[in-house]
Amino acid sequence: MCGIVGYLGHKSPIPLIVDSLRHLEYRGYDSAGVAYLDDENLLRIYKASGKLINLENLLPPELQLRQLGQNGNGHRHIGIGHIRWATHGAANDTNAHPHTGNRSEIAIVHNGIIENFYEIRQELQAKGHVFHSETDTESIVQLLESIAESENDFCKVILKALTKLDGAYALTAISKKHPNRLYAARHQAPLVIGVGQDVNGHPEYIVASDAVAIVQHTNKLIYLKDGEIAEISPEGLRLMNFKGEIIEPVIETISTDPLTIDKKGYKHFMLKEIYEQPDIVRNSLSGRLKSIHQPIWLLGDTPEAETLFNAFLDTIDRVVIIGCGTSYNAGLVGKYFIEELVQVPVEVEAAGEFRYRNPFISPRDLVVTISQSGETADTLAALRLAHQKGAKVLNLTNREDSTMAREADFVMPVRAGVEVSVAATKSFTAQVTALYLLGIALAEKRQAANPEQLEALKADLLKIPSRIETVLHNTDALQAMARKYGNTRDVLFIARGVNFPVAMEGALKLKEISYIHAEGYSGSELKHGPIAMLDSSIAVVSVLTKGTVFEKMISNCQEAKARDARVVAITNTPIPPALQNTFEDILEIPESLEQLSPLLTTIPLQLLAYYMAEFLGKDVDQPRNLAKSVTVE
Ligand code: M6R
Repeated sequence: MCGIVGYLGHKSPIPLIVDSLRHLEYRGYDSAGVAYLDDENLLRIYKASGKLINLENLLPPELQLRQLGQNGNGHRHIGIGHIRWATHGAANDTNAHPHTGNRSEIAIVHNGIIENFYEIRQELQAKGHVFHSETDTESIVQLLESIAESENDFCKVILKALTKLDGAYALTAISKKHPNRLYAARHQAPLVIGVGQDVNGHPEYIVASDAVAIVQHTNKLIYLKDGEIAEISPEGLRLMNFKGEIIEPVIETISTDPLTIDKKGYKHFMLKEIYEQPDIVRNSLSGRLKSIHQPIWLLGDTPEAETLFNAFLDTIDRVVIIGCGTSYNAGLVGKYFIEELVQVPVEVEAAGEFRYRNPFISPRDLVVTISQSGETADTLAALRLAHQKGAKVLNLTNREDSTMAREADFVMPVRAGVEVSVAATKSFTAQVTALYLLGIALAEKRQAANPEQLEALKADLLKIPSRIETVLHNTDALQAMARKYGNTRDVLFIARGVNFPVAMEGALKLKEISYIHAEGYSGSELKHGPIAMLDSSIAVVSVLTKGTVFEKMISNCQEAKARDARVVAITNTPIPPALQNTFEDILEIPESLEQLSPLLTTIPLQLLAYYMAEFLGKDVDQPRNLAKSVTVE
């Protein structure tokens, strides 16, 4: 996580860097900082714990307004900035980036984790370096200063330092001795360089962790690969590998419009994103599910890509889905659906576990990595491991420009649009929709289901958006429930079958934004342990849908009620009057085919989490300790 920015050009760097950092706040918001070289070539650093606004308030007003160095010594205007998600050391001013060494000569910002930072620190301390922060990053900058004592070429200084680092990093550095130069290096953390021009036609370069921080200035981008370092100067950009060998940079022109990040009148991004879901599902189906009589068109881009993917699908005999957090939960819905419909084995793995075991993967597996950001470190490592083992990877992502999308063999964009809220909502429904399409496409190819069944699924899928709208138009009961259960200490979410992952997702949503303890269980698992927790202080939110497990769920709810728990039903079918006293609250939502019901049952759980967090006055969009993109393991 963490977001880094660097600028070299003729503009005033600090306002530009702060503005770019605003686009990276989803990567962390524990602290923020900037560093630049002033007219006298002095290194100036400002940093503040907490959100970016604290840094903005700290910056002297004249720094934001005047054109830094305009009348100075002819140096270009150079600076770096950082937004932190703390890994080593508390989220305070001292640990905030940029960091500098004892001679205040070099400043760096870093995203990632240096695993051998302590050894480097001890070695340097023995040589007299005094450390001020608890961060791993300070080891890098002190190491750079130490190497720079005997090496004038700063590129060589960085290359030497990098050979000593273990771990993952994207970093950007500036040095007083090389005031016209900005350096950027990448190893297992994203980094992209924008190559633009200001209004006077002067070249300018912006380095950032994500293109979203650049696209308002230029759409010409160089995506650094692992093991690449860039030296940017008035003469241009020099790209090298870590051996110092020159590489020809590939400049891509991307079509992304500058992103408008706007709540559109909603109080929080999360609420806005929940309400976008009908359109997201429509978007996701558009062009892929053209009519119930036509086969699903999956990848969309070109007929060649579709043909290639279809040919590959003919060869597979297993599907392995990998993801983290909400993306993992979406994968579980995919397992229930695809395995039942296609009768092909489907495994779902948490990426962080998959990557550190020696999983059985064969070239006849379709590995599906799911990631909203396309940058999650564990999922990316899992994708690479699957490749090493000879599998082909399909990436379901919301970011077609992400590292995963670049490395995967096939990409299916989930088309959720920019998701700002840390709590994933619309990306989940978009991922689940994509998995439904994949399942139906596979079933069609293998003739695993009869055409009527597939047509029924397609017809029901097309009706999902308007049914989500119905749920979204009736939130009074959910708001009342949020007030009623807002002070509950523990909430269990239970469901069975294809909705079991929805229970997990409901619990994840609630805990991450309200900090209320919540767990998602299969209703059948209740009696194997969790039931011991139940008493009148605990709320049990149950998802009951018409179909195979309805009666089973009713029994599980009665077991909970018998232990005095406060049982709530989210149901798509009327609860028989004789059973209604099992529940303290009942919320009815529209019916759908059982297999597709997660697209509807998820919505009230997202809203419940949102309203509970709101009731408790929590920071809904930026909950504590979290970040939107988890690029450290
Ligand atoms: O970008 P990804 O989908 O790979 O992210 C995976 C998880 O970090 C993410 O889903 C996380 O669990 C969300 N904050 C949940 O709302």
